[in-house]
Amino acid sequence: MNSHWSEYWQQGHTTSFGEALSGNYEGVLKNVWEPVFDGLTENFLVVDVGTGNGSLPLLLRDGLSKVDLTGKVIGVDLAEVTLANSVSNNNQNIDIALMSNTRCEQLPFESNSVDLYISQFGFEYSNIEQSLEEATRVLKDDGQFVIVCHHNRSMILNRNRRILTLIDKDEVNLLINCLGKMANAMGNVSNQEDVERIKKDLQCEQIRAEINDLIKLLVMFDEAAAQDCDLMRFVAQFFKAGLFWPVTKKLEFIEFITIQMDTLKLRLTELVNAAFDETKLATFIAKFHQNNMVLNELKVLKNEQNEVLGWYLHGSKFI
Ligand SMILES: C[S@@+](CC[C@H](N)C(=O)[O-])C[C@H]1O[C@@H](n2cnc3c(N)ncnc32)[C@H](O)[C@@H]1O
Repeated sequence: MNSHWSEYWQQGHTTSFGEALSGNYEGVLKNVWEPVFDGLTENFLVVDVGTGNGSLPLLLRDGLSKVDLTGKVIGVDLAEVTLANSVSNNNQNIDIALMSNTRCEQLPFESNSVDLYISQFGFEYSNIEQSLEEATRVLKDDGQFVIVCHHNRSMILNRNRRILTLIDKDEVNLLINCLGKMANAMGNVSNQEDVERIKKDLQCEQIRAEINDLIKLLVMFDEAAAQDCDLMRFVAQFFKAGLFWPVTKKLEFIEFITIQMDTLKLRLTELVNAAFDETKLATFIAKFHQNNMVLNELKVLKNEQNEVLGWYLHGSKFI
């Protein structure tokens, strides 16, 4: 099991962009799939690898809601995943199933059974050579292979590299430690009298000043990354919603923040390592022919601001 991803998906996210994207993909990362899904025919079988909580299967189901087409989309993921429930089902013709603890290097499907193999920011996390071989095995002759992958110079990579640099800083651990010291120094806070007591408490005031200084340092270092990594949101939650929590609950929350930072580091490190640069991509594409795959289209996806979002690859299996 892929525990840092399982932990993430169990929080109910729809995509891997977490709080930065509350619903499913929008814009280019949604629109690019429309012509792909439009090519499907009656009783299709689609496989989405590295599916997460099923963002692409949900896009497919919504995208085909205006046509009378029946089919099935199966999302597989190495982690423990559950279909995101943020999107309502307006298309009963499409059956979605998710399979957890399933790697795309070894798919539980019969050979020559799949019409369309898809992935959005999932395939590149796997052993890409083995996964390509496996994709060819499960695809029908003339089956389609369409993946959107991380680009090593995309705005997604740049943003996440900045977050990684920030959460590696000593100030992050010091800040989390200070929250622990604060929880203990405050003791249980149950009413306004306790709040006044804390305000007058010298030790609490010292720790609060220390926390403010650490936040200022992190914000000065990289304000956007400080917001993006959710640490500021957690600190605000500790002092607002969390103020009246018992000490034990506050300490549990601090443990939760530590785990969030650790797993974020693991996920982002994987993301940076998974991204394709031109050399890695060329080596990968060179394997297509020996895998009975022909490359139909390769392009760089960009948003409206002309920023790079990722690579788009479209291949098909030849006989
Ligand atoms: C960045 S997330 C993308 C999830 C989803 N496609 C999305 O766009 O929201 C990458 C996913 O790939 C999964 N993954 C990593 N290695 C895998 C493998 N070998 N086989 C299947 N899934 C894998 C991870 O567990 C994670 O859920």
